[in-house]
Amino acid sequence: MGGTIAATAARGGAGYVAGVLPISRLLPDVQGWLRVDGEQVCNTGSQAVTYADWFRLADRVQHLVDGAAVDGIVVTHGTDTLEETAYFLDLVVHGEVPVVLTGAMRPAHAAGADGMANLRAALAVAAAPRAAGRGVLVVMNEQAHEAWDVQKMATTGVHAFASPNCGPVGWVRGRDVGFFHAPSPRPLRVAGLSTLPAQAARVLVLYAHGDLDPSVARAFVDLAPDGIVLAGVGDGNASEEVLAVLSEAAASGVTIVRASRTGSGRVIRNVEIDDDGRGFLVANYLSPQKARILLMLALTQTRDRAVLQRCFMLD
Ligand code: SIN
Repeated sequence: MGGTIAATAARGGAGYVAGVLPISRLLPDVQGWLRVDGEQVCNTGSQAVTYADWFRLADRVQHLVDGAAVDGIVVTHGTDTLEETAYFLDLVVHGEVPVVLTGAMRPAHAAGADGMANLRAALAVAAAPRAAGRGVLVVMNEQAHEAWDVQKMATTGVHAFASPNCGPVGWVRGRDVGFFHAPSPRPLRVAGLSTLPAQAARVLVLYAHGDLDPSVARAFVDLAPDGIVLAGVGDGNASEEVLAVLSEAAASGVTIVRASRTGSGRVIRNVEIDDDGRGFLVANYLSPQKARILLMLALTQTRDRAVLQRCFMLD
């Protein structure tokens, strides 16, 4: 898919351009261990990945899973939105074949480049029979993460990826792979969406902060979205003025989901905010960017708020 793992040097070596090298140039020499083939779905910096790219990728992955001709699938991807693509795939791809996303925090020409090590580790996980049936995993820095929890939590550094709620689900050392716990439940799986539906649900993320001008919330509502995810302060909160705008939107049919901008922890219904009274949903453990993906897909199946809320619950 591109990203820093497929980058070339630029600006005299001080910088780099992500998503340039083709997959054929990235495949490691693993003869005698694995047979690896590559195909290019797109080649871009992940800040530019679109819904269309997601569905094209999901279509290819599902095709390979269904064909039963591969033991595992690795997707190389830019790290900036890697967690979003991983979660999207987790919700739409069906089957037992391991699907593993990986990337690089440093380009190949940098000292201590991590791309090749990550790719080899991802291949080890994808080839591991114990990875089957675990949904989509992310492998970075010798750790395996579940798609729903993993986040890029630092702008630089090879340790940038973490699972802030549950910790990594597994580890990789060379060809050895292990898992710490059973796969988490996945309350929503969407079938039959192999392309972008014309009426794909439009979901926006509203970022809260101290003294957020309610007219910003009003401007979001005026865009007539299907849903708004509030990246709220603390437990998914915002000022009464902002909440009033969102309550009004909920009453007129917009699905409002309260998530938190804190980076970890659970947003709980009806504690700080009367969600039942206001018609709000909560994101539970999902980050705002993942709550948006889940809501976008769930809205293609139902508009029933009780059913939608259950899609966010892991327990
Ligand atoms: C990108 O996300 O494409 C650029 C950054 C990276 O891959 O680390």
